[in-house]
Amino acid sequence: MRNSSFPVQGDGVIVTGAARGIGAATVANLVAQGIHVIAADSNGELLQETLKKIDPSGALTVAVTADVTSEAECQKIANAAAARGVRIKGLVNNAAVGAFNMSVEKTSYDEWQRIISINLTSIYLMSKYALPLIRSAGGGAVINISSIHAFATSTAVAPYAAAKGGVLALTRTMALDLAPDNIRVVSIHPGATNTAMLQDHADREGKTVAELGFPASDNAIGRIAEPEEVADVIAFALSRGASFITGSSITPDGGILAKF
Ligand SMILES: NC(=O)c1ccc[n+]([C@@H]2O[C@H](COP(=O)([O-])OP(=O)(O)OC[C@H]3O[C@@H](n4cnc5c(N)ncnc54)[C@H](O)[C@@H]3O)[C@@H](O)[C@H]2O)c1
Repeated sequence: MRNSSFPVQGDGVIVTGAARGIGAATVANLVAQGIHVIAADSNGELLQETLKKIDPSGALTVAVTADVTSEAECQKIANAAAARGVRIKGLVNNAAVGAFNMSVEKTSYDEWQRIISINLTSIYLMSKYALPLIRSAGGGAVINISSIHAFATSTAVAPYAAAKGGVLALTRTMALDLAPDNIRVVSIHPGATNTAMLQDHADREGKTVAELGFPASDNAIGRIAEPEEVADVIAFALSRGASFITGSSITPDGGILAKF
């Protein structure tokens, strides 16, 4: 018998980092299924613009301008979700920042703490305040967006890789703690994806994405992912089809980790 650890039409899901990229594509995917989305991002202006395009009537989305490194602002997101008046059946911890040119010695302590705070601690904080809502809805799913950097990595991404590895381990322990409450916890580990995070980095370096070290030939499929392809995986991990998946990771990487 299947559990009820997944949202269906009319239920609500919180998505962080929803203003652009993989987060925005996830909002669009969920709205197309008739799921209410509590969409949070620190860039409130861009978030409003994005939601206007995805959900012009505003019937299925609510925008919350919030920084997920702040405990009070994570509580604000959870309060907005509770106020929506629907069953909150999911949380997608997606917000993060890229961090390049950062070996241990090149990274100041302030930078280290900032990146760990956005890319790892925020998942603890946001989950802490969203879980009571999901529990009271009879269960659901928490989807943590990590990266292939949790498994294999490259030079000069010390705080990013450390945070993403932490997300993998945090996912496992959360899954064990929350299984009795019918709450599944899954990590998603995308490979290079065509979003502003990657493009901004290429622009800063004055290089193309391929010159940055993501040549099309690097993975088996021969191109980087589109954000909608990662959003499809997130939507699957949230869904009824994933009702027996918890504590594990899904890796939409085009086959890059399969190679020597
Ligand atoms: N793009 C890639 O190649 C790639 C690969 C692997 C994993 N990922 C992961 O996927 C997720 C989404 O990445 P993306 O490429 O869509 O990034 P993106 O930079 O395009 O979007 C991230 C969003 O998060 C928001 N955000 C950042 N810090 C925040 C904070 N403190 N509080 C609230 N919102 C905040 C930003 O404003 C932005 O809208 C991230 O967890 C990222 O690490 C991305």
